[in-house]
Amino acid sequence: MHKSVRDIVSMKGLKKISVVTSYDFTTAQLCDRGGVDVLLVGDSGGMVMLGYENTIPVTMEQMCFFTEAVGRGRQNALVVADMPFMSYQASRSQAIENAGRLIRCGADAVKLEGGAEIADTVRSIVEIGIPVMGHIGFQPQTTTLQEGYKVQAKTKDGALALIRNARALEEAGAFSIALEMVTREVSKIITDSVRIPTIGIGSGPECDGQVLVIHDVLGLYEKIKPKFAKRYMELSAEIVKAVAAYRNDIVSGRFPSGEHCFSMERSELERLKKEIA
Ligand code: KIV
Repeated sequence: MHKSVRDIVSMKGLKKISVVTSYDFTTAQLCDRGGVDVLLVGDSGGMVMLGYENTIPVTMEQMCFFTEAVGRGRQNALVVADMPFMSYQASRSQAIENAGRLIRCGADAVKLEGGAEIADTVRSIVEIGIPVMGHIGFQPQTTTLQEGYKVQAKTKDGALALIRNARALEEAGAFSIALEMVTREVSKIITDSVRIPTIGIGSGPECDGQVLVIHDVLGLYEKIKPKFAKRYMELSAEIVKAVAAYRNDIVSGRFPSGEHCFSMERSELERLKKEIA
């Protein structure tokens, strides 16, 4: 049986929550085997898997495609899927319908960007029984349009707005809140002032849990290398090395060798040769 939303909530104050993004079956299987608590099917998949500049072009169809694959790969972790840009803003019924689609595709919960302004939407989704993770601070779907990549809550007013947003999400029934690129002091204040877990990305160690994009963890994405994203290996260099070795083996005739071939029985081959002759 995989982890439930209740399992994740009950970790607050007792054990740090580990979250990593996944977008496909194989990576989800490996991350699950690595023991993370939550697999986040992030709309960052639009950038690292599909090559978009940002997350804005990501569609519901693409998120469903990623979510189904991750759902097939997980065994223990909770699966949370991002609701993409404009899949929940137009109306409450649109939000409920799209949240339901992601659950049908294999997610256990959905994540929405926004604070007090989407609290009613969050409440509507939670009320029909779908768990929601909030996402405030830097919000890739909208902050990029307004001011680009920027650390959030550096001023008293910015901090107060963020604290109000966190409380509004808790009040609306969210089971946790992702805090992206928030100053660590404000992350701590928020973490201490809500009963639900905070999951930080670039928001300091005081959050209840941490999330990173799997391509950053593995050193696979070269276009953007955020300061907060610790790279645990440089897989892209290893992949280039392996593919170059493969290509060189083909050119030089070293691949395939005997061990990679299938053979006929010698007697069968003799019969074949006779017939051809
Ligand atoms: O899409 C994503 O990967 C995310 C994380 C950065 C929290 O939302």
